[in-house]
Amino acid sequence: MNWIELPDDHPTPSLVVDAQRVDRNLRRMQDYCDTHRLHLRPHTKTHKSIPMARRQIAHGAQGLTVAKVGEAQQMSAASSDLFIAYPAIGPQRLLRLEKLAKELAGQQGGQLAIGVDSQKAAQGIADAATKAGVPIGIMVDLDVGFHRTGTETTQEAIELCTWVSQQAGLRFRGLMCFPGHILPNASPQSWADYHDAIAGVVDRLRALSIDVPVVSGGSTPTAMESHRNPILNEIRPGTYIYNDWNEVSLGVASIDDCAARVIATVVSVPTKSKFILDAGSKTFSSDRNCVDADSGFGKVVEFPEAKVSRLSEEHGEVIFPENYSGPRPSVGDRLWVIPNHICVCVNLQNTFYLHQDGLLQELAVDARGLLV
Ligand SMILES: Cc1ncc(COP(=O)(O)O)c(C=O)c1O
Repeated sequence: MNWIELPDDHPTPSLVVDAQRVDRNLRRMQDYCDTHRLHLRPHTKTHKSIPMARRQIAHGAQGLTVAKVGEAQQMSAASSDLFIAYPAIGPQRLLRLEKLAKELAGQQGGQLAIGVDSQKAAQGIADAATKAGVPIGIMVDLDVGFHRTGTETTQEAIELCTWVSQQAGLRFRGLMCFPGHILPNASPQSWADYHDAIAGVVDRLRALSIDVPVVSGGSTPTAMESHRNPILNEIRPGTYIYNDWNEVSLGVASIDDCAARVIATVVSVPTKSKFILDAGSKTFSSDRNCVDADSGFGKVVEFPEAKVSRLSEEHGEVIFPENYSGPRPSVGDRLWVIPNHICVCVNLQNTFYLHQDGLLQELAVDARGLLV
């Protein structure tokens, strides 16, 4: 598929998203989920955009995932079925949660759930639910090997699930996990361990007559292999909508699948071996590549041999390897860059340009910078 031709006066640096590629990425994931009878609840952290969330719902997503309550408030414009995959701790979040729970309860099919890994977090949500006068769903977060959040042992998980199922204001909805440690070509044993960590909890809950309606996993690298863990009935990939250089490096996406790219201008060619782009850490973030940390801060599409070697706020420094004898850019040239980590890049932009049917439309990044 051809990439986009921009008009000469298009501003740089800016983030440009190709709708045709977005739809292809969404269709592929939705088809996979439909084939394997999995609900798709995409994480909107990647795009933070209400129109993009609506596109995911239109393709067949069950509902949406967010990290923060403020993001949930934004995304309620796209779906009334929301999951906050992050504990809502602190009075600011709980107050917003109370308001949101009430709003969603009044909507057709409205439901709200939150992931927690402690009784303290669940207690705060129970109090918010009581104040709101509507129940709030709880998904208990299991650590299945990524070692970030999540209950560490089966016993801890059972105690928390049991406690949640006894609270009047809460509805125990099931289990969530984030398998960030499972990468492409993971061993059958890693997948078996991932399955067993959840199955041990589900079996014991069933023995206690506690129903587990939802088992939610998934990340973009594992998404299309989710059938290898048949206990899952929902996945929450986020990055798949746009993809990025990390996903290409991992081998789960091709360059052609990268639907969001930064257009940048060469503002200086100080030596033969390097050039400077008008996009630095203010545009890309300093995330290193997840496969090869020394490979640079993204990929310049027109110069794949070059390395984005150093970022300062407004400068992206790109160097050619020694003995490089190919073409070089000139001051004023515009180049496309695929960021290492598109989610963080999106969060740095006020707006992005959506390319659809030959037209470019500037859209707000609706849920950017929402820390609460
Ligand atoms: C809890 C949770 N669920 C889902 C995702 C989506 O994963 P990915 O970015 O690999 O698509 C993330 C990403 O960080 C996450 O933290």
